Amino acid sequence: MDFLIREMTKEDIPRVGEILYEGFSAVATEYGYTSNINSAEEGRRLAWALFHHGPSERLVAEAENRVIGSTCLNLRGDFAGLGPTVVDPHSKNKTIGRELIRAVLEKAEPSRGSRTIVEAFNPAIFSLCYFTLKYIPVTDLLDLYLYGEGQQALKSSNSVSQITTKDIDDVYTYDCPRSKLDRRPDLKFYVNWGKVLVYHDQSQIRGFLACLPGPRWVQLGPLVAEGEEEAECLFQHALTLFKNRKFRSRVMARDYTFVKALKGFGFRIYCINMLLVRGSWRPSQYIEAFGIFPEAV
Ligand SMILES: CC(C)(COP(=O)(O)OP(=O)(O)OC[C@H]1O[C@@H](n2cnc3c(N)ncnc32)[C@H](O)[C@@H]1OP(=O)(O)O)[C@@H](O)C(=O)NCCC(=O)NCCS
Repeated sequence: MDFLIREMTKEDIPRVGEILYEGFSAVATEYGYTSNINSAEEGRRLAWALFHHGPSERLVAEAENRVIGSTCLNLRGDFAGLGPTVVDPHSKNKTIGRELIRAVLEKAEPSRGSRTIVEAFNPAIFSLCYFTLKYIPVTDLLDLYLYGEGQQALKSSNSVSQITTKDIDDVYTYDCPRSKLDRRPDLKFYVNWGKVLVYHDQSQIRGFLACLPGPRWVQLGPLVAEGEEEAECLFQHALTLFKNRKFRSRVMARDYTFVKALKGFGFRIYCINMLLVRGSWRPSQYIEAFGIFPEAV
């Protein structure tokens, strides 16, 4: 199939939104899941946000003057986040996804590694990333949801406070050596559009959690914390701040005690994801939760 790859423009937003909705709905339905993007309008909102606030590299594939696929790469210091990648369901399995990802990696990745998150129920993207693009799985992630019940006994914490723009560098100084990422643009975005909570012991930061309210749920993550106690406190605090909202988060399955605590707060598992990596990035020993936007999906 003949197609070309080019930079995404503002004019592509409606069509990219349509494909995000159709592509992700098709794969979720195929494997018996509810799609995370449940209308064309929601797809358009995501495409708009990706264009205006998301990854720095955005490419589309076009055939016969019609956009049939898109991908993004978010540069964060020495590592980048790949995704979302989507191809029009009518044009699947024609190497469009592969060429889009190759092109975006070629543009920006050579000197750095990258990571991406794929749903375990989705064999096409796993096969493509694993066999063809040489990403390897480094940890299992649990996609968690909380639908508003089970929050009655939660307590806010005196050790947790909300930061403002002037504190971003302090959070970056805590985050960078632990996550190995430069997430200053993301932190700025979360401070502007949501809340960034910090766990302090005296004047020392011992963890932070970004909370991003959206129309359907509040995204909890990224989180980095020294241990389970700090991570649980940050989550509890966030749940009390956004009372009666739905929540979504992604945490590492290996952090069993922390995940059990979240289960106690009312979180349930939506699906299992794999974190795939090209290059040297590996999960640290700290407790981490992963953002969904603007980080890779
Ligand atoms: C994942 C997606 C982007 C791939 O795009 P595409 O243009 O179809 O991909 P390609 O034709 O380049 O490659 C398809 C790959 O899927 C594999 N594949 C397709 N169906 C498969 C199946 N049922 N089981 C195993 N592998 C499968 C093909 O073998 C190929 O992998 P290979 O390179 O190892 O041979 C596309 O299917 C899509 O849009 N899915 C919905 C959105 C999504 O899941 N995005 C990924 C998460 S960000």
